[in-house]
Amino acid sequence: MSWFRNAVFYEVSVRSFCDSNADGIGDFGGLTSKLNYLQWLGVDCLWLPPFFASPLKDGGYDVSDYESVHPDFGTLDDVKAFVTEAHARGLRVIADLVVNHTSSEHAWFQEARQPGSPKRDWYVWSDTDDRWPEARVIFIDTEESNWAWDEVAGAYYWHRFFSHQPDLNFDNPEVVEAVIDVVRFWLQLGFDGLRLDAIPYLVERDGTNCDNLPETHDIIKLIRAVVDAEFPDAVLVAEANQIATDVVEYFGDGDECHMCYHFPIMPPLYMSLRRGDTDKLIKAIDETPDIPEGSQWGMFLRNHDELTLEMVTPEERDWMWQEYAPEPRMRSNLGIRRRLSPLLNGDRRQIELLNGILLSLPGSPFLYYGDEIGMGDNIWLNDRDGVRTPMQWDQSVGAGFSAAATDTFHLPLIDSPAYGPAVVSVAAQQGDAASLLEWTRRVLDLRRRHEAFGTGSFERIGTDNRALLVFERTSGTESIIVVANFSDGPQRVEGVVGSATDLIVGGAVQLADLELPALGFRWLLRDV
Ligand code: BGC
Repeated sequence: MSWFRNAVFYEVSVRSFCDSNADGIGDFGGLTSKLNYLQWLGVDCLWLPPFFASPLKDGGYDVSDYESVHPDFGTLDDVKAFVTEAHARGLRVIADLVVNHTSSEHAWFQEARQPGSPKRDWYVWSDTDDRWPEARVIFIDTEESNWAWDEVAGAYYWHRFFSHQPDLNFDNPEVVEAVIDVVRFWLQLGFDGLRLDAIPYLVERDGTNCDNLPETHDIIKLIRAVVDAEFPDAVLVAEANQIATDVVEYFGDGDECHMCYHFPIMPPLYMSLRRGDTDKLIKAIDETPDIPEGSQWGMFLRNHDELTLEMVTPEERDWMWQEYAPEPRMRSNLGIRRRLSPLLNGDRRQIELLNGILLSLPGSPFLYYGDEIGMGDNIWLNDRDGVRTPMQWDQSVGAGFSAAATDTFHLPLIDSPAYGPAVVSVAAQQGDAASLLEWTRRVLDLRRRHEAFGTGSFERIGTDNRALLVFERTSGTESIIVVANFSDGPQRVEGVVGSATDLIVGGAVQLADLELPALGFRWLLRDV
């Protein structure tokens, strides 16, 4: 039971991947039709952001019914067929469990706001809007307070995200039961796990900032106990955007989540790259806490949200904004709404370098759909929609995403000269050995062949050269040395000796003579 420790995850938006019924919106039929592609690419587990009933004011993270499928995306039977087909190809699938809050359109909230409702206590109410002032506002671009007034209820309700997303009251055992029912529903249906969305904010307490409270951890332990007892092969992934010492608490003593996204290491990756100096990355690596036996970090470069800078210092955030988001439209809340390729100026060397590190640091990598072909973004779209545009399959009018008229697409295709489907698509890259897509497929294949990447031990190898990151992953008798050059000039690697086989470019290497080109990286399998 640790499949997730060696797995490569792939976040795929049902809405934006492939449209099977020509209405301009991706759906389960479309996603199912692309499973062969995902199997070919070589990923192991798909993560589907919310596909449930929802007014879709927050990309589906505003759920109005946890046990039904948004009609745009298909039916429950379509979901079942998709899961069956994925499993038939050896692919696993996880869903999002978004239970910190519901949509205000959820029947629970509609009942709760009625005077005298027995459901009143399912949400968090107050007569005033000044309780818990220490809790920060997360969506600062749109919200001024974590409280909103509800006319029908005649009271304020608590919301950590958008004001149309009232927080559930986890002090109410009925809420906890209802949430556990949702967990059972999707795992019984065949999903292999759940991503626990916005998990640090379940419970509120006076005199605290309401993040990471012990009572929140208790709820996660309850969920984990149900999973262990009834779905022992399923994985729980914590989305806790917190500093390292707080994130690690979501593993518990091996009795909370099996995985946590490694938020703290992500900004330093980008900082080190642009500075040509690995000090910040090395600090983040060295400060990564140990995790319980059998658990795993979830590593990522990008996802459907802004590249979050909430947890870095104000100076680091300003620097990141200057370097990676020079135009105001590129910024969103305390982050950056851009995709991987445009962030890195479309530079293959930088894209390969960051992906090479992503795939070899301890943890299981999460790729984001479209990044394997270097898709672009559209900063002029609303909120984070600019990184959620339709997948570019080919050069046809609808990019192979949909046969509908393009002006009916739920989001427009990228149409910039450098990133439009005429230039960036699966069809243009598949079969071209020099393409990013084929490169990605090759490194995923290599990673799969060497267990050391997933579950091997990790040892950082010290070097005086701050442009370099050098480490060794070892499993049994197999040992892989990873060397990466973050500078834009060639660098000589010191501190490693012996001979090895270069897994990336092929050939034998004498480690003592090793020189890396600008922004180069290598996986070197030590000869035994
Ligand atoms: C999701 C976001 C969403 C937020 C509120 C997050 O952490 O990743 O996309 O907007 O939760 O639900």
